[in-house]
Amino acid sequence: MKPSQPSLTPDYFDSLYNADADPWKFETSDYETKKYAATLAALPKSCYRSVLEIGGSIGVLTAMLAERCEALLSIDVSEMAQQKAIDRCCALSNVRFQLMQVPQTYPEEQFDLTVLSEVGYYWCWEDLQKAQQLMLEHLEPGGHLLLVHWTPYADYYDNPLSGDEVHEAFLALPSSQIKHLGGDRAEKYRLDLFERV
Ligand SMILES: C[S@@+](CC[C@H](N)C(=O)[O-])C[C@H]1O[C@@H](n2cnc3c(N)ncnc32)[C@H](O)[C@@H]1O
Repeated sequence: MKPSQPSLTPDYFDSLYNADADPWKFETSDYETKKYAATLAALPKSCYRSVLEIGGSIGVLTAMLAERCEALLSIDVSEMAQQKAIDRCCALSNVRFQLMQVPQTYPEEQFDLTVLSEVGYYWCWEDLQKAQQLMLEHLEPGGHLLLVHWTPYADYYDNPLSGDEVHEAFLALPSSQIKHLGGDRAEKYRLDLFERV
């Protein structure tokens, strides 16, 4: 484990998006396309009432999730990324966007699905724990929480946590609060699905 580091800041992500409009190649990478297909396939319900996507970035996954719900709120810390997402999803009337830094702020709504895909390892432990509580508080009973994170770990990454550390922190939550419905580990990512008790 790396020495403890603070959460990565909005400035960090803005500078990434300044240097490259699609820093993780969400629009073009085969790996991301396959991972998105696995993400959507892991959702037990064909249509959710109200979805929260944390860290929606430039909106590639957002547009796919929009087909699986009546309403979707996508939040991100980067205005530059979110503007691309707004442009991409302009024809999707069920999608809303808000600039928001979790866990400092969180939508004052209840959701029946929360998606945390490739975001949790940017938090420090303390923020991860605060974010977990907010996710639980704002997930209705029977609602689903889907986690997807890259698992290879290297010291040169800026991330305070690894993907595995994020998933293990959710697996360690009391079973009176959340039930683990299943998970899958691919070569470079893992996916875990939970249900709010
Ligand atoms: C690697 S991208 C993930 C994109 C998308 N979820 C996906 O899987 O395709 C991470 C995104 O999370 C955003 N982000 C990072 N920390 C955040 C925070 N504390 N609150 C909200 N968004 C955050 C970043 O700006 C970035 O756009």
